[in-house]
Amino acid sequence: MRKNIVAGNWKMNNDLPQTEALISDLLKQEQTSNAEVMIAPTSVNLFQAFETTRLSNIEVIAQNMHFAENGAYTGEVSASMLKSVGVNTVILGHSERRAYFNETDEMLAKKVDTALANNMRVIFCFGEELEDRKSGNEEEIVENQIKKALFHLDASVFNSIVLAYEPVWAIGTGETASPEQAQDMHAFIRKTLESKYGNTVADAMTILYGGSVKPTNAKEIFSKPDVDGGLIGGASLKAEDFFAIVNAF
Ligand code: 13P
Repeated sequence: MRKNIVAGNWKMNNDLPQTEALISDLLKQEQTSNAEVMIAPTSVNLFQAFETTRLSNIEVIAQNMHFAENGAYTGEVSASMLKSVGVNTVILGHSERRAYFNETDEMLAKKVDTALANNMRVIFCFGEELEDRKSGNEEEIVENQIKKALFHLDASVFNSIVLAYEPVWAIGTGETASPEQAQDMHAFIRKTLESKYGNTVADAMTILYGGSVKPTNAKEIFSKPDVDGGLIGGASLKAEDFFAIVNAF
């Protein structure tokens, strides 16, 4: 079922004391919307984050995981490791993972399979770069990213997938896609899904927008019919700002 979700991607920010302090601030905020709230701290702090949010509505999720179940992959984290510390949702395909850690569509397809095989929910990210947008190729790029990582899947698993459209040119730049640009792309994403999986899957898909979402622009972006929530970077690091976005619905 389509849901409203606001997820904070903390990226490589906040050590343990800072994680505890931010969570303590988050727990003091009042939620007035019905959005699902998620935070993605760095992997070493997931257990502590899970423990301290246990009694709240905040779900702790992971920023990444490996596609192998276990083995000789120094430095990596597996699905079962995440699950064992209370994490049941993982962000996959973030543009920073693609750009700085060479994650390919093929690798991401395997990660998606592994997450689903472990009964995890996936927030699958994709989005075009500035040059793609300038040359008018944004739809083709996005369509390819979705097809290559997800179109081998059966329709029945799509209720465990959330999509996150994050135009690379809008991430951490202060430049946001206009609400109309976000809506146009989200409608296109839904149409792409519909072409393969039909109307029921496409209509039920939760599609988040990410890229410089702030308290000042969240309401307008979330008001668009095909935008179901946000994946928030910088503004998720301040409890008041993050909850202003959560409550923008
Ligand atoms: P910013 O909100 O800092 O632009 O980051 C967006 C993002 O990458 C969330 O995953």
